Amino acid sequence: MKTKHLIIFGTRPEAIKMAPLVQEFKKHNDFDTKVCVTAQHREMLDQVLDFFQITPDYDLNLMKPNQNLYTLTADIITGLQPIFDEYQPDFVYVHGDTTTTMAASIASFYSGAKVCHVEAGLRTFNKRSPFPEEINRQVAGRICDFHFAPTIQSKENLLKENIKEDSILVTGNTVIDALLDSSSRVQEIQNAEIEHLKTIVDSEKKMILVTGHRRENHGKGFINICEALKEIATTHPDVQIIYPVHLNPNVQKPVHEILSGIENIHLINPLAYPAFVWLMTQSYVIITDSGGVQEEAPSLGKPVLVMRDTTERPEAVEAGTVILVGTNTAKIVTEANDLLTNTVRYQSMSALHNPYGDGKACERIAEFIKSS
Ligand code: UD1
Ligand code: UDP
Repeated sequence: MKTKHLIIFGTRPEAIKMAPLVQEFKKHNDFDTKVCVTAQHREMLDQVLDFFQITPDYDLNLMKPNQNLYTLTADIITGLQPIFDEYQPDFVYVHGDTTTTMAASIASFYSGAKVCHVEAGLRTFNKRSPFPEEINRQVAGRICDFHFAPTIQSKENLLKENIKEDSILVTGNTVIDALLDSSSRVQEIQNAEIEHLKTIVDSEKKMILVTGHRRENHGKGFINICEALKEIATTHPDVQIIYPVHLNPNVQKPVHEILSGIENIHLINPLAYPAFVWLMTQSYVIITDSGGVQEEAPSLGKPVLVMRDTTERPEAVEAGTVILVGTNTAKIVTEANDLLTNTVRYQSMSALHNPYGDGKACERIAEFIKSS
C-alpha cells in the first residue's frame, strides 16, 4: 500500500526549496504525493512552479494585495481543512518560517497526520527579528514530528528546545539541491529572461545585485537601504546595480521613489529562478536581506552584505563570505566601497564554500521517511 504525502507551500522561497522534494518524492512508487499551494504569493510562486514544472493538486489562491498576517493565517487554516478531509495524508511537509508554514503546521496537527518540517531549527532566539518568522518556525518546531535540519547548528538549536534527537535528521538545505540543478542548466538553456538580462548586464563592469523584502525593514529601514544604494551608485559610476524589486507594496514604493531614474541602477521585476541564478553568477557582490540568497551565494563564491542585525544562518558569517551590515546607510556604503576597492579582502570573501548542503537533502529526507 502506498503512503500518502502532502507537500504544502505558499511563497517563492518555499517553492524553490520544496520543488526538489516534490521531484524526489515523485520518483518513489510507494509514495502517493500531492502538492498544495496556499498561494500566499501568486506571481512569484507561479514563476517557480513554471520553471520546475509543478502543477499543484490543490491551490487555495489566497494572496490579496497588501495582505495582513491575521486574515492570511485564518484563511490558510480554514482553507486547508477540506483538503485534509478529502486526501487524508499520512505525512505533511511544511517548509521554513512563513505564515504558510506556521498556519499549515497547526492545520496539519489538527488533521492527525505526521508533520515534517523541512529547514528546521533555524533560530535567532529574538522574536522580533526576523518578524514574524522567528515565532513561525518555533511554532512549527513545537508541532512537528520530524525535523529536517539543514546544518549541525540548526540541529543543536532544536536539541536546546528539548526536541527528541531521533526525530531530527541533518540533511543539508534543499535550496542547494535546487541551486546545483539549476546553476548547471542556466549556462545552457535558451531562456528569454536571461537573453534580456544580457542586454542590461555589462560584463566589463562590476555588478552589485540587490534584493530585499524583510518586514522589520519596512519604513525607515528601506529608506536607509535605498539612500545607501544611491550613494554607492553615485560614488561608483562605473559599477552597475541591478535590483529585481519584490512585489510587496511596502518595498515597491520606497525603492521606486528613491532610486528610479539613476543611470547605473536598474530596477527590474522579480525574476524567475533560472534568470536570478544566472544573475547571481554574473554579480561581483550581493546586497540582500534574503534568507535563501544568503545560502546560495557562498556556493557560487559571491560575497554578501546582509541588511539585517541578526541572522539565523551563522555558518556563512563564520566562513567569512557574509557580513551583517544592518540597515545603517553609512555601514552599507562603507562595506560596499571596501569590497569594490580592496582586492585582497574581496578575494578572501569570495572563496567557494558549501556550508548549507551538498545537493542530496531531498534523497535523505525520502530515505528517512521510508525508515520511519
Ligand atoms: C513573505 C514571508 C517571508 C518570506 C517572503 C519571501 C510571511 C509573513 N512573510 O513575505 O517570510 O521571506 O515572503 O519573499 O510569511 N505580492 C504580490 N505578488 C506576489 C507576492 C507578493 O503582489 O507574488 C505582494 C502582495 O501585495 C502581498 C504582499 O506582496 O499582499 C505581501 O506578501 P506576503 O507574503 O504577506 O509578505 P512578503 O513580504 O512577501
Ligand atoms: N529569487 C528569485 N528571483 C528573484 C529574487 C530571488 O528566484 O528575483 C530567489 C533566490 O534565488 C532565493 C529565493 O528567491 O532562492 C529567496 O526568496 P526571498 O528573498 O523572497 O525570500 P527569503 O529567502 O528571504 O525567505
